Amino acid sequence: MRTTTSYATSVRHALTESVGLAGRTAIEVGSGRTGPGAAGDAVLRIDGLCARYGKAGDFVLKNIDLEVGADDFVAIIGPSGAGKSTLIRCINRLVEPVAGEILLKGTNLTALSQRQLRRHRRRMGMIFQEFNLVERMSVMDNVLSGRLGYVGVARSLFKLFPRADIEAALDILEKVGLGEFVDKRADQLSGGQRQRVGIARALIQDPEILLVDEPTSSLDPKIARDVMTLIRDMSRDLGVPVLCNIHDLQLALEFADRVVGVQGGEKMFEGRASELDRRALHSIYAGEVL
Ligand SMILES: Nc1ncnc2c1ncn2[C@@H]1O[C@H](COP(=O)(O)OP(=O)(O)O)[C@@H](O)[C@H]1O
Ligand SMILES: [Mg+2]
Repeated sequence: MRTTTSYATSVRHALTESVGLAGRTAIEVGSGRTGPGAAGDAVLRIDGLCARYGKAGDFVLKNIDLEVGADDFVAIIGPSGAGKSTLIRCINRLVEPVAGEILLKGTNLTALSQRQLRRHRRRMGMIFQEFNLVERMSVMDNVLSGRLGYVGVARSLFKLFPRADIEAALDILEKVGLGEFVDKRADQLSGGQRQRVGIARALIQDPEILLVDEPTSSLDPKIARDVMTLIRDMSRDLGVPVLCNIHDLQLALEFADRVVGVQGGEKMFEGRASELDRRALHSIYAGEVL
């Protein structure tokens, strides 16, 4: 876990960087994209999302609107406790929203029954901070578990995955640089390698969007950058947009096309990484670190 001090340093550093970036904005404006879904309709659209834990608790998401377009890499930034993870959990309904709509290519996810939800969850590839691998299982089996939404529990128990799934898993493992590790147990891998398994498991779902929650928080800086690069490159190759919570501002600025800043459950900023200036950072991080 990052300490408050290094977190503050990261914010300050990114602030300096962003001022430099902001200086270049005027030149880039004409050639850049202009907003969410510049390539067409939004893949994910969130309208008026409100959420809280428990019936009487404070709202931890307050009227959030958000769009992710077909070729977007959107970073959600904000201090710890801002509501970033809750937002992702609402999208796949691990947390039930109190109000609002979440549309995935036109399907209103908030209106689905629990049975329908299972079928639709496979449309969203999840990548987690703690990887969430089955440590005693092989790399291959962990990746194939990404097909559970298609194959069904009975067949998967007997490892009766279709040949095409196994070939796809081998192919993806090659692409994420783990071709040699197919039979290794997950607990024999380094953190960076485990996250690569997590990425492969999300991709083999053939998802329509990647929902990523702090993918680099458990990794050292060099590996963190490699993992972000891999997520970005794979998403571009496969044409899958990314919504990524990330509290490391420098990584957000480096990898995201658009940034959404959240604070106290409210959206404080939305724009290109290059537009995230001192004022915007103050509004997101308030008195916390600046
Ligand atoms: N399972 C939970 N039960 C109750 N409160 C929670 C739970 N998870 C998160 N919260 C609270 O919701 C708020 C938002 O948390 P979270 O979405 O985890 O923020 P972030 O990911 O930005 O750090 C925080 O105030 C946090 O304490
Ligand atoms: Mg979080």
